[in-house]
Amino acid sequence: MTTNNSPIGIFDSGVGGLSVLRALVEQLPNENIIYFGDQGHVPYGPRPMEQIQQFSEGITNFLLAQNAKIIIVACNTASAAALKYLREKFSDVQFVGMEPAIKPAAEYTQTGKVGVLATPATFQGELYASVVERFANDVELFQNTCAGLVGEIEKGNLNGTETRTILQNALLPMLENNIDTVVLGCTHYPFVIPLIKQIVGENVRVIDPAPSVARQAQRLLEAGGRLNQGLGGKIQIFTTGDLSALEFTLPILLNKPAEVKLALWENNQTLKTL
Ligand code: DGL
Repeated sequence: MTTNNSPIGIFDSGVGGLSVLRALVEQLPNENIIYFGDQGHVPYGPRPMEQIQQFSEGITNFLLAQNAKIIIVACNTASAAALKYLREKFSDVQFVGMEPAIKPAAEYTQTGKVGVLATPATFQGELYASVVERFANDVELFQNTCAGLVGEIEKGNLNGTETRTILQNALLPMLENNIDTVVLGCTHYPFVIPLIKQIVGENVRVIDPAPSVARQAQRLLEAGGRLNQGLGGKIQIFTTGDLSALEFTLPILLNKPAEVKLALWENNQTLKTL
């Protein structure tokens, strides 16, 4: 049985979803949060849909076993590949997912040209096709997968040569095509917003969907009378990757103390803690 004091569960393939966690803590400072980063399997972007569904199901089971009262799929790739699947499998669980912010971009753009940065699986998914069809009829989209960028951000390299080169290669051709808006369709990418802004300049708007995802979680919890009324604010982070590597990168990405723990996959299906 979950209570108002139960944690919000949130997951990503790695550290990307911490950009959503950051917004969540700002929006709902009293909530207890369990973050799960599947760093043993990052990146999800180039993986087949079925595999991402399997990982997402295992992580959902794990978060439910930790008594999560709602689950935020803080990963565009997992949302594209598995959100529908998860909602069918766990019909009594509330999920909040991510979709590339094409709608606000289409409303904002003056030039009618928008850049979208996301992973291959996100671009291939039905969710992306559906937002493009619904909202981007009069807009020209310039897409780039920023190959290698997730890996650099996982290492905490937010400003080094490799990161800069990947972003320049993605963004400079878009600027030549007169984009005035960039959609960050991968939760890892908000961590390089300062660098993106250096490259695109002040006249291009960069859209980070994290605050609106946090507001959506708040709306759902409020509507269900499930916001934590007491003092919470405890953050626990699980990784399936290298614990000491995460302990190194965490302070670069998150300005908050958090307890970090290891979780282990069994047959890539179920998760155990030590
Ligand atoms: N953070 C992820 C996203 O929002 C996925 C990155 C990856 O694992 O490829 O898409």
